[in-house]
Amino acid sequence: MADNNQLNSRDSFSSKFGVIAAAAGSAVGLGNIWRFPYVAGENGGGAFLLLNLAFILAIGVPVMLSELLIGRKAQLNIFGAFRKLAPGKPWYLVGLMGVGAAFMILSFYAVVAGWTLEYSFYALRNEFAGKSAEELSLIFDKLTGATWRPVVFMLIFMAISALIVRSGVKKGIERYTKILMPLLLVIIIGLAIRSLTLEGAYAGLEFLFRPDFSAIDANTVLEALGQAFFSLSLGMGVMATYGSYIKKSESLGQTAISVSLTDTFIAVLAGVAIFPAVFAFGIEPGAGPGLVFVTLPGIFNQMVGGYFFAVFFFVLLVIAALTSSISLLEVVVAYFVEELKMKRPVATWVAAGIMSLLGVLCALNGAIFNLFDKTSSNILLPLGGLFIVIFVGWFLGKRVVKAELEADGRVAFYFKMFVPVIRFLAPIAIALVFLNGIGLLKF
Ligand code: PHE
Repeated sequence: MADNNQLNSRDSFSSKFGVIAAAAGSAVGLGNIWRFPYVAGENGGGAFLLLNLAFILAIGVPVMLSELLIGRKAQLNIFGAFRKLAPGKPWYLVGLMGVGAAFMILSFYAVVAGWTLEYSFYALRNEFAGKSAEELSLIFDKLTGATWRPVVFMLIFMAISALIVRSGVKKGIERYTKILMPLLLVIIIGLAIRSLTLEGAYAGLEFLFRPDFSAIDANTVLEALGQAFFSLSLGMGVMATYGSYIKKSESLGQTAISVSLTDTFIAVLAGVAIFPAVFAFGIEPGAGPGLVFVTLPGIFNQMVGGYFFAVFFFVLLVIAALTSSISLLEVVVAYFVEELKMKRPVATWVAAGIMSLLGVLCALNGAIFNLFDKTSSNILLPLGGLFIVIFVGWFLGKRVVKAELEADGRVAFYFKMFVPVIRFLAPIAIALVFLNGIGLLKF
């Protein structure tokens, strides 16, 4: 395909590994390594993890498959997909909500990615060496409390994301994910091993793996659901948009399962790296968004070759964040290009420009940051997911669903299970958790 052509016609991933790498690249990011430990820490640990895993299995995987299916069937952005598959019906509003969620998420996501970027430089300058937990937490507070630096680093990150998205999905995404993500995994395993061998590590494992059900309230349950959606990049059109770039010869079911497994494995591994150290260093597990930024440098300080580990880790984390941020940006850009008929580069800079303005607010104001973080994960994504499963389960029709799942020429043996799950189990579970969480229903 010629280059200019590619800007207008639909791009697609070249290989099976490319598909999984891109979707897993979207799923694996700050959600696993930054957000999972911080939210688990705020919500009592073990019971939160258990709920989170249950939601991933019962809700996350079916929503992901539904979303991939919508995208590949329609071959369009999330808004256009709903309009094409349900002409004259208001389903496109779900697509519009997804585009809105993308703006909201990337605005605060880029701020956290900016912190990560700045931490890469700190690591390079060996700034963590010999510092106690208190001193490390001071570094974080100073950075996030500053005026210019968080804004500048957020903008740099946004600009890099825009540069990649501007030149198209395939060239942009496939190339980076394939080598770098396995490398990140190796480093996290190294971190987990060191953390587990710290004195007092056991208390952290207990915190993460021994559920204390007395710590659960309606909000914890909603947080566990929100984290499942956020971490798997669900409920707002990322997987639908990527699904639209997946060839008919690929199995959507396999993609959904591999991506969910990889993502969950990495989040749990991040937990195993963080919590033993949290307890060994006497850090408060509920410390909030700063939790991993204080804990990780502490672990590096205790490692042989910690300097190199730290530099590699933060650089790779920036890259993991990039493969997620470009998927968020792509949702909006695909919508702008296909529905508003903008040129791809213009669409990219307009979207990134608006997100940057919102990002400045998030960088400077913790309350806005928190509002965007919690509203997107706990409200917009579950609502989007609810509508998506209802749409595929009740609206698309069994025959269409079956045909799409079997488009790769193989029998989708899970089809019989998938239909009742997306018709009943997933929507009822999302609705109950949601209504209970926002206090409209009390159990
Ligand atoms: N799943 C990504 C992460 O874990 C974040 C994300 C959320 C990306 C929603 C796209 C959509 O970092």
